[in-house]
Amino acid sequence: MPTVPPILIVDESTRLRRWRLEDAQALYDAVMSGQEHIARWMSWADGTYTLDAAREFLAACDRGYPTGQLDWAIEVDGAPVGSIGVPRSEPAHGEYEIGYWLAEPYTGRGIMTRTAATVVQWLIDTKQAHRVQIAALGGNRPSRAVAERLGFTEEGTFRRARYHRGTWHDLVWYAITSDEWAARPSFARPLPPGGGA
Ligand SMILES: CC(C)(COP(=O)(O)OP(=O)(O)OC[C@H]1O[C@@H](n2cnc3c(N)ncnc32)[C@H](O)[C@@H]1OP(=O)(O)O)[C@@H](O)C(=O)NCCC(=O)NCCS
Repeated sequence: MPTVPPILIVDESTRLRRWRLEDAQALYDAVMSGQEHIARWMSWADGTYTLDAAREFLAACDRGYPTGQLDWAIEVDGAPVGSIGVPRSEPAHGEYEIGYWLAEPYTGRGIMTRTAATVVQWLIDTKQAHRVQIAALGGNRPSRAVAERLGFTEEGTFRRARYHRGTWHDLVWYAITSDEWAARPSFARPLPPGGGA
C-alpha cells in the first residue's frame, strides 16, 4: 500500500517532508535563488523557470503520492530549500535511484550528503532496498562527490547518454548495496554539521 512520503529527520535543523501545493512560491524561490547553479545540470530548470512550473511539479506530487511517488522537500529551519526523490525504481529487484538538488545558498555544508544518507537508510529499512543508485552527468563534480562521500561505488558510464545545453554528456552511475551500506567505514559516514569533532 503506497504511503505519502513520511517526515524524516536529517539533523537538528533539517527535515524531509512531502511537498505541498502551497509551497509554490518557496519552491520557485529556491530554484531561482541560484538558477544557473541548478539549470547548469538539470534540464527542467534550464530556460525560463516559472511559478507555474513550480505549481505543476507540486500538483504532480499531489497526484503521484497516492500511487507511491517519492519526492521530499528538504526543509532547513522550516523553509523548503531543495528536493530529493526516487525518479526510478525496480521494487521487484530492490533497486532504487535517488536524485536531488539544493538551493545554492545552502550548499557547501554537507546538507545533501546527510539528506541522501537519510533517504538511503529509509529505502533500505522501509522498502527493503538492495541497491541504491545515483546517476550524474560526468562533469557534475558536486553531485558525484555526494555519492563518493557516502561510499557509493562508481560502476560505469553511459557514454554521451544525455543531451543538455547543446551537448551530449556522459552519465556516470554509482551504486551501493544494502550490505555495503551497513559495513561502510566510518569515513564514509556523513559528518554532523560542524564536523562532529
Ligand atoms: C549536487 C548538490 C546537491 C551538492 O551540494 P553540496 O552542497 O556540494 O553537497 P553537500 O550538501 O553534501 O555538501 C558538501 C560540501 O559541504 C562541505 N561540508 C561542510 N560540512 C560538511 C559536513 N558536515 N559533512 C559533509 N560535507 C560537509 C563539503 O566539504 C563539501 O564542500 P566542497 O564542495 O567545498 O567540497 C548541489 O551542488 C546541487 O544542487 N547542484 C545542482 C543540482 C544538481 O546537480 N543535482 C544533482 C543532479 S545528478
